[in-house]
Amino acid sequence: MVSNRSKVSHQPVMVAEVVELLITNPQGTYLDLTAGGGGHLKSLARRLGPRARLFGLDWDPDAVDRTRRALRGIVQPYNIVQAAFGDLGTVAARFEDERFDGILLDLGLSSYQLESPERGFSFRHDGPLDMRFDPTRGRPAWELIGSLDEKQLARLIREFGEEKQANRIARAIVMERQKVSIRTTTQLADIVLGAVRSPQKNKLLARVFQAFRIAVNQELEQLARVLPAALHLLVPGGRLAVISYHSLEDRQVKRFLQAESRGRCSCPVELAVCVCGAVERVIVLTPRPLAPKSEEIEQNPRARSARLRVGEKL
Ligand SMILES: C[S@@+](CC[C@H](N)C(=O)[O-])C[C@H]1O[C@@H](n2cnc3c(N)ncnc32)[C@H](O)[C@@H]1O
Repeated sequence: MVSNRSKVSHQPVMVAEVVELLITNPQGTYLDLTAGGGGHLKSLARRLGPRARLFGLDWDPDAVDRTRRALRGIVQPYNIVQAAFGDLGTVAARFEDERFDGILLDLGLSSYQLESPERGFSFRHDGPLDMRFDPTRGRPAWELIGSLDEKQLARLIREFGEEKQANRIARAIVMERQKVSIRTTTQLADIVLGAVRSPQKNKLLARVFQAFRIAVNQELEQLARVLPAALHLLVPGGRLAVISYHSLEDRQVKRFLQAESRGRCSCPVELAVCVCGAVERVIVLTPRPLAPKSEEIEQNPRARSARLRVGEKL
């Protein structure tokens, strides 16, 4: 298990679009809730004026260290916080400022995480099946894989991996774990490939690994909690930008922005006017999500599934 961490770098995705759409006030206050390696924060810093203030957060302690190093002299280390963004409502008090002109979420994984075998995120490296963003808390993937029954495994793989052959994979996992405990990425990949014939092996593995990663980190619950909390912390006219990498996330972001732009009206459809007192809180600036330009995808293939949605608080 050789870590090539020192050689890895993470290329921030859709930087030009994020900078363009997120900055409304060059002397304002901005928060990146998925600091990663500080890539987007650095790009924002380059565009902002001298009185602007930047803050960052990441669940992964390594990402926090990396961002602090990358932004030395630009952001005070204590303004880069280690926490899950799902806890933003309570964590926000740890930032010096508590109102922001722009908040960014660049969901998913960084290249640092993917390329570190010991984190267990990738089927391309042999490593322990961990997959936690914060490896000091919660249950690693191998524990989940060892404890769920066949039905629960199948549901998880189907719902979070959008994988049609989930039943066969779950069955194969259960059969295998009767013989030996499933602890490594290679074991899981071999079980999946042994259970399902697929011409697109990497896509199949990516879906199954995504499913377990989402479950381990409760990613959809995290997203459901952070969206309203982030909106709450924006000043009027402030913007929320979210880059997602698969349809489950993108759907959630789209529905949230749509609901906030309609004022979460709960009146019966037969009523011609709203009587429930719902208030529109957002203007959607991206009726369709923005995708990376082809040049960016050519240069950074990991950007290909990125979709950016932006809303402005009223
Ligand atoms: C795609 S990377 C961000 C890269 C960053 N934008 C950059 O340019 O360097 C996503 C980051 O989000 C973090 N992350 C994922 N889920 C999180 C959560 N619930 N709370 C906080 N950070 C999270 C991951 O640890 C990872 O570092």
